[in-house]
Order: sequence, then structure tokens, then C-alpha cells
Amino acid sequence: MNRMARTNRIALLDRDMAAKNLSGYWRLGMEGLPPHPMTSVEPCLWKWTDVLESLVRAGDVINLEDSERRVVRLVNPGLNRQHAFATHTVQISFQYVKPGENARAHRHTPSALRFVVQGNGAYTTVNGQQCVMEPGDLILTPKLSWHDHSNESLEPMIWLDGLDFPLVQGLHQVMQERYSERRQPIEKSSVEVMNQLGGSIRHGLPLADFFHYKWRDTERTLRALVQSCAGKDPFDGYLLEYRNPLSGGPTMTTLQCAVQALPPNDESESHRHTSTVIYHVFRGQGATQIGERRFDWEQGDSFVVPLWHAHRHRNRSSSDDAILFSMSDAPALKALDLYREEAG
Ligand SMILES: [Fe+2]
Ligand SMILES: [Fe+2]
Repeated sequence: MNRMARTNRIALLDRDMAAKNLSGYWRLGMEGLPPHPMTSVEPCLWKWTDVLESLVRAGDVINLEDSERRVVRLVNPGLNRQHAFATHTVQISFQYVKPGENARAHRHTPSALRFVVQGNGAYTTVNGQQCVMEPGDLILTPKLSWHDHSNESLEPMIWLDGLDFPLVQGLHQVMQERYSERRQPIEKSSVEVMNQLGGSIRHGLPLADFFHYKWRDTERTLRALVQSCAGKDPFDGYLLEYRNPLSGGPTMTTLQCAVQALPPNDESESHRHTSTVIYHVFRGQGATQIGERRFDWEQGDSFVVPLWHAHRHRNRSSSDDAILFSMSDAPALKALDLYREEAG
């Protein structure tokens, strides 16, 4: 059979198969799979000044009576822009709640977390537990936990929202329900639960729900780690993972949160892994080399290190630690036995 006749017969076969909802492997154009995981997610940095300006402008025109949430989402230029998130698995957004406002109670299958950036005294209620927010606090709203946000303080409140929304969406599992009232009744405070939790661990009592990591506890533990000098990771400096105290496992089923300190002038070694990590600069200034590109960052900026991209971090200050908060999809990959990392 000559080349032309063969091409015609393949085209005819493709057409007939398509009419029967069939398709040949040859149509994929993949005669060999890549030697390492590939992603269209691009390394990207978002400046805090741009995020803040957008939030404040949204504060003037978006109200919480018409809109479920006032949230500005970070969009990765490598993903489809209309519905894109910062990565293919994890979404990062910033939420702005003005004094006197309440974001109504709901729950959904995507798990969410809040890392408080600015303001003091607003609160998130999670399953009846009031979590009063201060900068650096981490508050979890695991899948299907009721949550609403209220700001009864005198200043606007801004926090980072992290969700496994893209991952849950990829599995076609997204759903949401509204609570019967705009706000949930408050049954207890997260401080009471933290006190109770400590006692429960000591005395073997049933553990209460735990959603709230206070920055004062995180900072104290991180300082102790830095002063020990023994726990320094060659790739991440002094890294503290937020463990789920109820399971001892990752922060949430799909997400691992961490906070890390890079000492003044410190530069980490380069590595890469199959997990994708979103960073938010809590304090300090530095630079991260991701593949061939260098991203300079300062307090409030956020950036993405896509999977299998070599990266290393540097603190550009000669006097102060840099502190990064991060969210990684590593627990989801580990559950599927797809996690891998290597130096270099
Ligand atoms: Fe929500
Ligand atoms: Fe890394």
C-alpha cells in the first residue's frame, strides 16, 4: 500500500471510529511518554501591592449580600484563564472582609484553610467553634465543615484562602450547601478547644475537633527550631510542618501546610519534587530560583513552584530571617504513591 492510500485509509478509520465514540492511540500524538512528569503550570509570582489594590477596589463594588465571598484569586498564566487557579491542584486567593460584614455560612467538599495576613479580631466560625483571627494564624475548614466569617473589629481583615478546589473539581466531586441561617451559633471558642485538646492528649480522653493554629505557638516553635541549629534542612532551611494533631498526619488529607525560616544571607540547595508548592511571604525579603528564572520577593508576595522544577531559596537580608508560609499537594500524591523528590 502506498503512503497516500494508507493515509486515506487511516483518515477513514478515524472518521468511522469517531462516529462510534472510539479513538485510536495514534491520534494522541504521543509515540513516547515523557521521561519525567510534565505540567503546564508555570512558575509565577504575584506582588502584594497588586493583590491589595484589587482587594480594596473590590471592597468598594462587591458586597456580601449579592456575592457569597469577596475573594481575589491568583491565576496561573499557564492554565486556561477563564476558570484557572494558581495551580492544577491547589487554589490560592485572598479574602477581604470589612468591619461589620459577615460572609454567610456554608460548607463544601473542597477543603479550605485560612492564613491570616492583615487585621485583628475578626473571626471564622468552624462547626460552631469560634476562631478569632490574628496575623500568622492558620485556621482549617476541612471538607464539609460549616464555616462563616464575621468582622466585628474596626479594621478590614485580609487572609489567604487555600483550597484543594482544582483537585476536587478534577475528580468531579465539587458540591456546596448553605447553612439554614446566615451565621452559625457559636458553641465554643478555639482557645477552649486547644486547652481541652492538651488535657485530652495527656489523659487519653476523646479528642475534640482542632482547627486553629495560633501564630504565637507557631512562632515559638519555629524560634526554638532555629536556635537548635540541628533541624536545618538543606533545601528548606528551618521548616515546620503543621501536623494534624488528631491523626498525626498531614495538615489535611490533600494539603500539607508548612512555615519555614531562612536565616540572614542563607541560600538553600536546589532540589525538585513531584509535588507543587504555593508560597506566601509572611516576613522578610529574598529570591527563589525556579528553573532558569529568578523571582525576587518581599512580604506579602506569593509564588508557585510547579512540579519537577528545580528550585532554591535565598534570604536577601543580612540581618533578618525570612519566613515563608507554604501549601503543598504532597499528601495527595503520597496517597497515590506518586511522590518523588531528588536533589539537583
Ligand atoms: Fe467556603
Ligand atoms: Fe522544595
